[in-house]
Amino acid sequence: MGLLVPGFSVLLLLSWVLASEGGDISFYRNYKVAWGANNVLSLDQGREIQLSMDASSGAGFASKLSYGSGSFSLRIKLPDRDSAGVVTAFYLTSQGNNHDELDFEFLGNREGRPYTLQTNVFANGEGNREQRTLLWFDPTADFHTYRILWNRHQIVFYVDRTPIRVFKNKQSIGVAYPSRPLQIEASLWDGDSWATDGGQTKTNWSYAPFKAYFKGFHISGCGVQNPADIKRCDASSLWWNKEKYWNLDSSERSAYETVRKKYMNYDYCADRHRYPTTPPECSQQY
Ligand SMILES: *[C@@H]1O[C@H](CO)[C@@H](O)[C@H](O)[C@H]1NC(C)=O
Repeated sequence: MGLLVPGFSVLLLLSWVLASEGGDISFYRNYKVAWGANNVLSLDQGREIQLSMDASSGAGFASKLSYGSGSFSLRIKLPDRDSAGVVTAFYLTSQGNNHDELDFEFLGNREGRPYTLQTNVFANGEGNREQRTLLWFDPTADFHTYRILWNRHQIVFYVDRTPIRVFKNKQSIGVAYPSRPLQIEASLWDGDSWATDGGQTKTNWSYAPFKAYFKGFHISGCGVQNPADIKRCDASSLWWNKEKYWNLDSSERSAYETVRKKYMNYDYCADRHRYPTTPPECSQQY
């Protein structure tokens, strides 16, 4: 008896840690297969999902619900070896015209050359806001957490705990801000017309099937059934809406500065050829 009690509390603690990390629940609770069902494999009783891509198809999944605010993450392990032309995507998107979309796109590469992580922000149908960064680890060796925080004040893209991109709400100066219900989607597909070296480096199908792995299917988000319900997603009782999450804190700011300096290799904000006038949302970084 004396032994059982501590054992039991260790179990409780362990399950609490797992639940709070979101590593513990089945894919099928919050997500569904969207396309390429033959290339979707459930592992570990649905706690892990493998997407594969061969010459016949890629595959994708989507959240069952749409959300109006939240902190959305997946743990992802990317296709290894030669992944040139292969795109692994994790993004939030609204349906219909003038859509809003927040993207992580992992652009594969020839074996031994690094992945590029491209992010983009669409608001009211307008995108063309690419940023690209290299990663400071091998994303094919292990799972890493990729996360998008979205509230009425800012959108932050995180790689593990490091912010790599911030999009502030600048509606006050006329910049559209994502504010439609967003569905979470992830996919693996052939992007060799553009993804690697601007489309010059093609997918080598002798390495197929390419495989990406996903975990962490817990969702911290404000689910909306009806678009008119989205107002309640601004509630300050939701943790990601609290004032603490309106801006990066000082340690996040310094991590963000470091990563931009060392790893970012393209920023539309600095592309004078494409944008002779700096887009207005670029004026304040965080
Ligand atoms: C594809 O990979 C195979 C195996 O490494 C190699 O023999 C072949 O030359 C590659 N094809 C192209 C077009 O690079």
